[in-house]
Amino acid sequence: MKLTIPDYIQAIEPYLPGKPLEALEREYGISDSIKLASNENPLGPSPKALAAIRQSLSTLHRYPDGAGHRLTRKIADANGVSPVNVVIGNGSDDIIALLVRALVRPGDRVVVPRPSFLMYDITATAAGALVDDVPLKAMTMDLDAMARRVTADTRLVFVCNPNNPTGTVVTQKDFDRFMARLPDDLVVVVDEAYIEFARSADGLKTGKSSDLDRPLVTLRTFSKAYGLAGLRMGYGIMPAALAEVLNRVRQPFNVNAMAQAAAAAALDDRAFLQETVDMVHRGLNELYRALDRLGLTYFKTEANFFLIDVGQPADTVFENMLRQGVIVRSMCAYGYPTYIRINVGLEAENRRFIRALKTALH
Ligand SMILES: Cc1ncc(COP(=O)(O)O)c(C=O)c1O
Repeated sequence: MKLTIPDYIQAIEPYLPGKPLEALEREYGISDSIKLASNENPLGPSPKALAAIRQSLSTLHRYPDGAGHRLTRKIADANGVSPVNVVIGNGSDDIIALLVRALVRPGDRVVVPRPSFLMYDITATAAGALVDDVPLKAMTMDLDAMARRVTADTRLVFVCNPNNPTGTVVTQKDFDRFMARLPDDLVVVVDEAYIEFARSADGLKTGKSSDLDRPLVTLRTFSKAYGLAGLRMGYGIMPAALAEVLNRVRQPFNVNAMAQAAAAAALDDRAFLQETVDMVHRGLNELYRALDRLGLTYFKTEANFFLIDVGQPADTVFENMLRQGVIVRSMCAYGYPTYIRINVGLEAENRRFIRALKTALH
């Protein structure tokens, strides 16, 4: 078929998500496999969210509330901001896309850290923007170098905190210095998809009312700590003037009715969130100890995932583990040819991962 595709679209490498369990079991003819590849919540969804979804089923013949009034109010209250500062999205991916759609024209520039979440690059490139990527320094975002890359044509800067895939955070102090160096009207996006897991005392956390006197956008998601990745619900907190622009360009019903009901209920389920965070911290300690015993290098994290240097081609280890029914993520595409990334699973899953890793390495 003859298609006319812009060069900058042709050049995009498709985003490769973690392999779904079903696909693995179909392809390899196995069962009982486990997935530690997409930083999901192994506990499942919050029971309160599930109950809210069940309740929403009988009104599925109606369109959802396009403005998401109830959910937006709850998110605003939880963060000490006003509903006019909140934009809801079909996952936080959707908010990234809305920001790019609203702010970036072909030929504009976008600054991103590398390696980091690949959708910043893919979404900006698809809009015809030029992406200036700034290498991490000691696995952490190099904010000084990022500030130096900003030009008069830069429309967006992405900061991922904690960073995917390295799990590192930037400090509030370094971030304040970074912001002071940027033009007042430059939109800075802080992606806090994993912020619930962070525990460093001086780490950055945005999304407060005091962050709204400049064009700072905080991205959050229900896909990770809240266990609702399959429903697709994320949001942005930002100054009202910017939220108003994003609301103009979003689809009127971008967050479905079940997702709105579930997210509102999940916000109220503090016990589930605490259980999740405790499970992740316990699991990390266990995994670190097991990796120490194996003598492997790994990178301590502020998120629910971390990097392990397996000391041999990561793709080979990834394949070997797949055959054992354990899905991890090879970091080759991120420029770390001997690293894998895993997220914390249930206790039994963590143990099974360590057993499979031992087998894969020997
Ligand atoms: C850093 C980061 N931001 C955003 C997302 C997208 O999350 P969502 O499911 O809300 O679209 C992910 C998902 O893996 C992520 O790792």
